[in-house]
Amino acid sequence: MIYTAIFAALCLGATSQANVIPRQAASGSGPYPAAYSTDTGLAGQTIYMPTTVPAGVKLPVIVWGVGGCSDSGTTTAEFHQDLASYGFLIIVNNAPTSRAQTTAASLTTAADWAQKVAGTGKYASVDKSRIAVGGWSCGGLQAYTVAADPRWATIGIFSSGQLDASQSVPVASKITKPIFYFLGGNGDPAQTPGTRDYGNLPKTTPAWIGTNNKGHGHSGPSGTFTAPAIKTAAVRWAQWLLQGNTTAATFFTNKDEATKAGWTAIQSQSLDKIAVTPI
Ligand SMILES: *[C@@H]1O[C@H](CO)[C@@H](O)[C@H](O)[C@H]1NC(C)=O
Repeated sequence: MIYTAIFAALCLGATSQANVIPRQAASGSGPYPAAYSTDTGLAGQTIYMPTTVPAGVKLPVIVWGVGGCSDSGTTTAEFHQDLASYGFLIIVNNAPTSRAQTTAASLTTAADWAQKVAGTGKYASVDKSRIAVGGWSCGGLQAYTVAADPRWATIGIFSSGQLDASQSVPVASKITKPIFYFLGGNGDPAQTPGTRDYGNLPKTTPAWIGTNNKGHGHSGPSGTFTAPAIKTAAVRWAQWLLQGNTTAATFFTNKDEATKAGWTAIQSQSLDKIAVTPI
């Protein structure tokens, strides 16, 4: 699809300077340092999770569409390791060093696989009842493509939106699950499309949108999601929507915290409808 191709080209431009650096050492600012691996049961995808999970800790799942629909599973490794270190299993829909084209169907495959292995072997701590979908740019369009899957607790749109304005209403008006938009400002070609999609959501759909031009714009050094502002926002999103952490919720329900972290143009709606049982 041509619009996907535009995002694909943009993402390739943004990440061409970033080397794919395998990071096998566990890391992350959360309580459970995380690393990535692969699993023969899930071809062509990269799995991030804490290397040690204390007894009693349950890991919700995040399935993620890569930028350009062709970035490798480790292009944004630091971001995923950081998020996973807060107690999540993250499945990124490309192999660690592959630049193959990805498909939206791979997000469904990832969720299917996570539900199958949850509670077994090294995935004993995985909670198959809590799954989010998200993605960056072209990967955000893939998240939209599978948005109707009833398993998602929430949808995370990172620097993405329907570039084709005529697709905004058809796509956005069908979203019922809590959806969060993290946009990159004037330099981000997703700024206008993402904002337009937000405006076309049903008013009853819980939603939040914010802009941070240092977090994850399509251009400049921010394209690998290593800026603290984007990491913090993603962690709070997952802590609230997947772990039921109401302390994390204030990042979205009260503009002060996000503003202090550099987010602007913040809007939200129906967030009071979000009720997640603490994990
Ligand atoms: C809840 O989220 C806050 C803010 O991110 C964090 O400081 C706190 O440790 C979290 N609590 C739990 C139990 O994870």
